[in-house]
Amino acid sequence: MAPTLLSAATGSLRRRLLAWLLAATAVLGLAAMADTWAEAVGTARAVSDRVLAGSALAIAERVTVADDAQLQVDIPYSALEMLTSTAQDSVFYRVDGPGGFMTGYDRLPVADPGAAGQGYADAVFADAPIRVITLARTVSTGVESIPFRVTVAESRLARNELAQAILVRSALRLALMICGASAIIWIAVPLALRPLNRLGEAISARRADDLSPLPTDVPLEVQGLVAAMNSFMARLDTALVALRNFTGNASHQLRTPLAVIRTQLALAQRAGDPALAHQAVAKGDAALADAERILAQLLLLARVDAAADQPLARPLDATALARDLTGEMIPHAAGAGIDLGFEAEAGDTPAVMVRAEPVLLAEALKNLIDNALAYAGRGAVVTVRVARTGDDVDIWVEDDGPGIAPEVMNRLAQRFVRGAAGPARPGGSGLGLAIVTEIAQLFGGRMVLDHGAGGRGLKAGLHLPTA
Ligand SMILES: Nc1ncnc2c1ncn2[C@@H]1O[C@H](COP(=O)(O)OP(=O)(O)O)[C@@H](O)[C@H]1O
Ligand SMILES: [Mg+2]
Repeated sequence: MAPTLLSAATGSLRRRLLAWLLAATAVLGLAAMADTWAEAVGTARAVSDRVLAGSALAIAERVTVADDAQLQVDIPYSALEMLTSTAQDSVFYRVDGPGGFMTGYDRLPVADPGAAGQGYADAVFADAPIRVITLARTVSTGVESIPFRVTVAESRLARNELAQAILVRSALRLALMICGASAIIWIAVPLALRPLNRLGEAISARRADDLSPLPTDVPLEVQGLVAAMNSFMARLDTALVALRNFTGNASHQLRTPLAVIRTQLALAQRAGDPALAHQAVAKGDAALADAERILAQLLLLARVDAAADQPLARPLDATALARDLTGEMIPHAAGAGIDLGFEAEAGDTPAVMVRAEPVLLAEALKNLIDNALAYAGRGAVVTVRVARTGDDVDIWVEDDGPGIAPEVMNRLAQRFVRGAAGPARPGGSGLGLAIVTEIAQLFGGRMVLDHGAGGRGLKAGLHLPTA
């Protein structure tokens, strides 16, 4: 199977078209020639038979009754001449009276005239194929009718030659047609494929980072290819943008924590006092944790960017996801002195289905909880809640911390924007809420920021359509 696939996929279109054309015309041509041959033979036979009949009639007219009531025949030269005018055919005849053979070639085969008084036959005479006509006629003596038969035969050379000539002409015509069609294909295929070549040239002339769509003013057959390439380039562009954002952001965002780590390591090295060295190492370690978190967030953003084209969303239970994640983060919350809890709709935990990719959705929610743990402050109460609102679902993370001033709320969805509470976590990068926003948008929803209950704290949520 592989070799046929391969040979169909490679090789020259021109040759393939040509092969198809030749095969098709050969089959059609042979059928046409068989038809022509049958017709040529029929025509030749009809023409020759008519001449043969004329010649037999001319002889029959010369059969008379002599004085002795015997038949006599006087073969007219012209009767045979009309036959011999064609090719080198031999002409034979015989006349039979009531008493049998009268004149001519006595071995010449005779055709059966039948009731019509005229019959044809194909036979062999003197080692050559012949065509025979026999006429049955009568001649009147005045008293009685005397029957006689005139047989004329002609070798079949001429009619064969005629049929052959017709056939050769039609074969020549066919050959000429095939040659013409082949020449047209040979010239037309490269011309017809020029748009493809131009497309190839346009692509090879591009810069590596030029992923703008190719022009679509191409022939119908090429439009599918161009559309597929354009869609591919759009996807590639999305991926490249994600990569570019990542590398740009990473180099920028990691510079500070890396510098801190270096400084602290140098301090630790030079510190004479082990306590000081220990302190420096702890600071360096914290900076490393920051770098780690920033890197994780940048990678996550790159994933969101790359998924923008085709999010791998599937129906999943938002309640279960939020409950599990909250459970996972409780130890961490306890460490920060925060009371983290989960509250499902209507007391028990009914499934609330959304369409999303579980890892990305969990990351978004994790960022919201992470913020609450970082900024709400010791002793705060943080509640994760899943609530149905009409056709939509809200996954809320509510705290009773300092909250966010209304005038900055709508700016925090942007990348690298931090708020007033920023100093509570020195290593933050301002990416958390941007990640939440972009993941929510990826699944057809949005991020919502509001004041907590009683105007205290922050209520941050993912607003998503139900599946
Ligand atoms: N639960 C919250 N309480 C108070 N402020 C918050 C809360 N969540 C976010 N913020 C504010 O929003 C800003 C942006 O948050 P985010 O995008 O996650 O970046 P980062 O946490 O790295 O600063 C934070 O710097 C903080 O000022
Ligand atoms: Mg954050």
